[in-house]
Amino acid sequence: MAEILAVDEALERALALLQGGDVVAIPTETVYGLAGDATNGIGVARIFEAKGRPRFNPLIAHVADMVMAERIAIFDPLSRKLAQAFWPGPLTLVLPQRPGNGIHPLVAAGLDTIALRMPRGFGGDLIAKLGRPLAAPSANSSGKISATTAQAVAADLGTRIKLVVDGGATPVGLESTIVKAEGGSLRLLRPGGFAAEEIEAAIGVKLLRGGAAGIEAPGMLASHYAPGAGVRLNAGTVGEGEALLAFGDQRAEGWRDAAAFLNLSEAGDLREAASNLFAYMQELDRSGARTIAVETIPFDGLGEAINDRLSRAAAPRDNVQPAP
Ligand code: TXA
Ligand code: MG
Repeated sequence: MAEILAVDEALERALALLQGGDVVAIPTETVYGLAGDATNGIGVARIFEAKGRPRFNPLIAHVADMVMAERIAIFDPLSRKLAQAFWPGPLTLVLPQRPGNGIHPLVAAGLDTIALRMPRGFGGDLIAKLGRPLAAPSANSSGKISATTAQAVAADLGTRIKLVVDGGATPVGLESTIVKAEGGSLRLLRPGGFAAEEIEAAIGVKLLRGGAAGIEAPGMLASHYAPGAGVRLNAGTVGEGEALLAFGDQRAEGWRDAAAFLNLSEAGDLREAASNLFAYMQELDRSGARTIAVETIPFDGLGEAINDRLSRAAAPRDNVQPAP
């Protein structure tokens, strides 16, 4: 069962867990977050595992200050103005990623944008001490509502995580408002703990609305998920000109002649496989192979989300939902 420690006694223990690639539930001003080091793929995979998410939704990267934020993302003038006015606070900005920012690809589920937020209180202190951004979705298992007390987190996730940091009831009690920079204007992706009107008043422009269907499911968008190469699942053989994405010790027939070869996890560890998935798909795609053949991935644990991602990539292109 997870240990529950009050904020004033939890810092060292939380740091040690995060440095070891583990996850920690932390209070923020909005809701409790399930945090992992955003630069550590195993830590990020553990977040999805603990939540039991059947797919890899992109996560918010939490930062301690503007220097860290600008290292991760490219700010346009309007977004910078919002950050300066309202951070730390219950506002999340979706921005283009700065190449080479060190954020593990699983955080943004392979997207080239990143959701950024600067939380108030314990979360901010922890990130500053760690010196790295924290990826953190709301600390609830998939399908449940967000937790606003440490006790609610422990009741839900307590058998799956080691530490819940207790900061009392979260003051806002609603998730952050999410705004996305879009070609010189800003779109409201998720209404939240921070009124859209207040944002509009601060920048003197109306937020675009609608198209928010993309928010819960950026994972459905063809433009983000389909590699240039075709994708063939449950491959027992490798054809001419095909690359092979392997798992464990299966080895599809003809693998030695594959145009390119990568193994998601030689040990057959699904956590490791999840952390390698996006980078390996991109790398095999860059090899110029006609098709990426993928060995069978089991469906247990993180295997469900890995298979979800792969089957989207393998779906016939004219069947995949267009970007909004
Ligand atoms: O208040 C909050 O925002 C809390 C605390 C812990 O910070 N976090 C939270 O995270 O609500 P989560 O994972 O439950 O919701 C994040 C939302 C998801 O709907 C996800 O699809 C969206 O943000 N999101 C993340 N990155 C995105 C991106 N690059 N583009 C579009 N949407 C994104
Ligand atoms: Mg959530």
